[in-house]
Amino acid sequence: MKGIILAGGRGTRLYPLTNIVSKQLLTVYEKPLIYYSLSTLMLGGVRDIALISTPEDIPRYKELLGNGRKWGLKLTYFVQDKPRGIAEAFIICKDFIGNSTVSMILGDNIFYGNMRLKEVYANFEEGALVFTYPVKNPERYGVVELEKNGKVIGIEEKPDNPKSKYAVTGLYIYDNKVVEYAKNLIPSDRGELEITDLNRYYLKRGELEVNLLGRGIAWIDAGTASSLHEAGSFVKSVEKRQFYKIGCPEEIALRMGFIDTNGFSKLLEEIPNCDYRDYLLEIYNEFNQEV
Ligand code: G1P
Repeated sequence: MKGIILAGGRGTRLYPLTNIVSKQLLTVYEKPLIYYSLSTLMLGGVRDIALISTPEDIPRYKELLGNGRKWGLKLTYFVQDKPRGIAEAFIICKDFIGNSTVSMILGDNIFYGNMRLKEVYANFEEGALVFTYPVKNPERYGVVELEKNGKVIGIEEKPDNPKSKYAVTGLYIYDNKVVEYAKNLIPSDRGELEITDLNRYYLKRGELEVNLLGRGIAWIDAGTASSLHEAGSFVKSVEKRQFYKIGCPEEIALRMGFIDTNGFSKLLEEIPNCDYRDYLLEIYNEFNQEV
């Protein structure tokens, strides 16, 4: 399975914060927002990942993440020069996807809790799988309409009268047909290839499944000033109480076996003395005791 992180767009909803910084590089407590989406893909076992951003911002992502090798990943960078929609990602990454299945995550989405991603990703074979989450303000998102048995019968983008409380989150898994289907999409009135149209395309063919995220999972779309602030508070509250960090790629790389303890200690050498390093050192010691 390949991965795509979409970190493009102008982030206009976060002006003036995003005037000089890409949205997904903004701070969520003690880490850049992009760490959280990257961590989610890593927890699914995805290591070959494309990051899509604007020509101006790609150098910054490269500086932060490099080629990913230090975390046992392979990161490749692709440009989306104009905001032509989320679904354009699959056309941009056509050659990168090749014959593989692919999971895309929007770079401003944060997931927390045991979603059993490793299992879900390993079991995925064909069609499309979207993750939905019950929210109080579904009109702000893509929304699914469900039958009593949980089968999806419709999806609408930001409907005035949502047919359910289940928002479509920014995490998706597709089979290889996604490239061809994305090419067949017609741009919406705002001139974008809409992810909801792509999901509808799968739905019409009976190839769309949903994974309902329930209690014990947190999902935050940190795309507004208010939700970005909430995300920071949420991470701080959890991390202040519980020893473990949320969205820490170094730790995930170690626990998922993407790097070994030697690779991890090399990482430690490169990190300046700070709370983040102290945490990683404790993880290193804990890991060595477990092994
Ligand atoms: C996008 C999608 C929407 C989805 C949301 C999740 O909306 O178009 O279907 O529910 O991401 O974060 P945006 O937040 O870009 O307006």
